[in-house]
Amino acid sequence: MSTRAPLIAGNWKMHKTIAEAESFIQALLPRVSAADGVDVAICPPFTALAAMVDSARGSRVQVYAQNMHQLQDGAFTGEVSAAMLAELDVDGVILGHSERRELYGESDRALALKVTAALAAGLHPILCVGESESERERGDTERKLRHQIQEGLGKVPAEQLAEVAIAYEPIWAIGTGAVASPEQAQDAAAFIRALLAGRSAEQAERARVIYGGSVNAGNAAELLALPDVDGALVGGASLDPVQFAAIVAAAQ
Ligand code: PGA
Repeated sequence: MSTRAPLIAGNWKMHKTIAEAESFIQALLPRVSAADGVDVAICPPFTALAAMVDSARGSRVQVYAQNMHQLQDGAFTGEVSAAMLAELDVDGVILGHSERRELYGESDRALALKVTAALAAGLHPILCVGESESERERGDTERKLRHQIQEGLGKVPAEQLAEVAIAYEPIWAIGTGAVASPEQAQDAAAFIRALLAGRSAEQAERARVIYGGSVNAGNAAELLALPDVDGALVGGASLDPVQFAAIVAAAQ
């Protein structure tokens, strides 16, 4: 029996003004107040982080950012540092989402620095990895995952590995409704855990590997019951407090 608490994180992407975020959190809090043993996080846009930290204070809901820069400061127009997030009392940060990798040229090299910068600032990172449809069809899924894990966690000391949650997000399943089968999700999560075990068996046992890609209230229970899947990174279905709360309930 695993001792890993499930993590259900809602990635809002570029959705919700502060006013919309406030009505979401007021609807969510009573619906998840009894979700004992489940770590719940919302990941709003930068502009709503401070308001959500305030509104969620004292509740079980944590607040994560969706990205940050790897350096402490400098001439990087439009960027935000780990210290700026930590100052807001943000709990963690998503790193390396496939949309950032594909649309904004996020590199493995920058991600390796982002992961350690987040840890140094006391933020919990969620590092996203996952193969494209053509990589899966070519049989390259494991090669891709191995590469992304080796690079992204390359600067994390072995004894700190469990402080990073890994989100397995097959790109073909994101926003498409084409959720991975339980077998595909379990195989990939177990493979990722085995990669971590190659550096520290003890940390691999403690590290959380979560699944993302078209998770909703209807399919969450089956995915969350898989032995190596320790939660979910939820996009579209996290925008609605009732659906999101149902996913949290499925993790209990
Ligand atoms: P989705 O997005 O749940 O809308 O597929 C998941 C994600 O991008 O993290």
